[in-house]
Amino acid sequence: MSSENRTSVPNSLNEHWMPFTSNKDFKENPRLITEAKGVYLTNHQGKTQIDASSGLFCNPLGHGREEIINAITNQLKKLDYAQPFQQGFGGSFELATKIAKHTPGNLNRIFYTMCGSSAVETAIKISIAYHRANGQGERFRIIGRERGYHGMHIGGTSVGGMINNVKTFANILMPGVVHMRHTHLPEHKFVSGQPETGAELANDLERICANFGAENISACIVEPIAGSTGTLVPPKGYLQRLREICDKHGILLIFDEVITGWGRTGSPFASQEFDVIPDIMTMAKATTNGIVPMGAVACKEEIYDTVMDASPKGSVELFHGYTYSGIPVAVAAALAVQDIFEKEDIFNRAKKLTPYFQKGLFSLQDIDCVDNIRGYGMMGGIDMKLNTKPGKAGFECFKACYEAGVNFKATGDCLIIAPQFICEEKHIDEIIDKLRTGITSYQKNQKN
Ligand SMILES: Cc1ncc(COP(=O)(O)O)c(C=O)c1O
Repeated sequence: MSSENRTSVPNSLNEHWMPFTSNKDFKENPRLITEAKGVYLTNHQGKTQIDASSGLFCNPLGHGREEIINAITNQLKKLDYAQPFQQGFGGSFELATKIAKHTPGNLNRIFYTMCGSSAVETAIKISIAYHRANGQGERFRIIGRERGYHGMHIGGTSVGGMINNVKTFANILMPGVVHMRHTHLPEHKFVSGQPETGAELANDLERICANFGAENISACIVEPIAGSTGTLVPPKGYLQRLREICDKHGILLIFDEVITGWGRTGSPFASQEFDVIPDIMTMAKATTNGIVPMGAVACKEEIYDTVMDASPKGSVELFHGYTYSGIPVAVAAALAVQDIFEKEDIFNRAKKLTPYFQKGLFSLQDIDCVDNIRGYGMMGGIDMKLNTKPGKAGFECFKACYEAGVNFKATGDCLIIAPQFICEEKHIDEIIDKLRTGITSYQKNQKN
């Protein structure tokens, strides 16, 4: 059947094993999205919903952007695939130059991956490769953080710190990983922006150095704002302190900017927003406005140079890469996205919209079943009070909000809100109104 003739509602839901989904629940009562345009989605019942999480943080420019669709179509007609090992095509170099213009400091060497998870694996491997090339092959430990999310490959799962993602796979995780505590303190209730307290939690890294030997540690990886766990904003001074400790011990600092990258905080990257430059940085999601899978890792020039210099000319310097590293269709989408970033001054647009969004978000704190709200830039997390078991309130509330016409991602008991940057104030109003309706309706049903 050609794709145009495919029905929006399939005959069978049995064969597709859905990711991060309650499959049994979904298949009894499916939520199928059939169309998307701008800030709106349409579902298989013909109902319109506002997209309050930019898909999975990946479509800040809105759905159905003609410029991106045209760029992809033209690229496919001209060159649909070029293998990325020992050959290339011009677009991936052009894109790397454009990305490097936005990355902080001299993180000007760009390695393409397929997604956020593969970007994290790549960042970890590059840190190891760098130290080996530097004569420090004993540095093998990677330091992560509780409540971190770094994708679902083995390295990322190991350094991540969300219990449900880890416990099933405990026996196959990467060795040598140690976790710092997360940064969410009880006094951080209903704090908008960076909390004043908690910077000292960064000293966990110093303790780990004392306990495990800093000379064994390759890198410390954190999300500048922990996104998937519900927008944990770094306490003031926290990231600066991590940077100091890493510098003191020769540990590489990796910022996982898969969510925060490309404007979510109002700056191109959270690194610039918080004025801390990592050694390695990941990005994905918004790189192509979520339309074609793509991720990238940006490294300091000296990391690249060290790895290059350690190998004789003519040999492969880094034995790592993917069949889909920087393929033409992804590059075409990303180049079109770069054009839109520039033409529509997108990062400033996100920055300007932030106060309006944050005000709306925090206006929901009067609802009884709301336990906490956090927010920074164009992202926010709403914690629901615990229901009978963890995760139930989040999921039930998500479904009530879906019925109310607002779509987002829920993780555990947190509703994750991350509107598109193309939103106008009226769209933010609509998101907040519909969230209020959905959350209140969830609350009422609990009481009945
Ligand atoms: C910070 C972070 N790193 C990595 C990932 C994994 O990205 P992907 O799902 O594209 O593999 C995510 C996804 O949400 C993320 O938020």
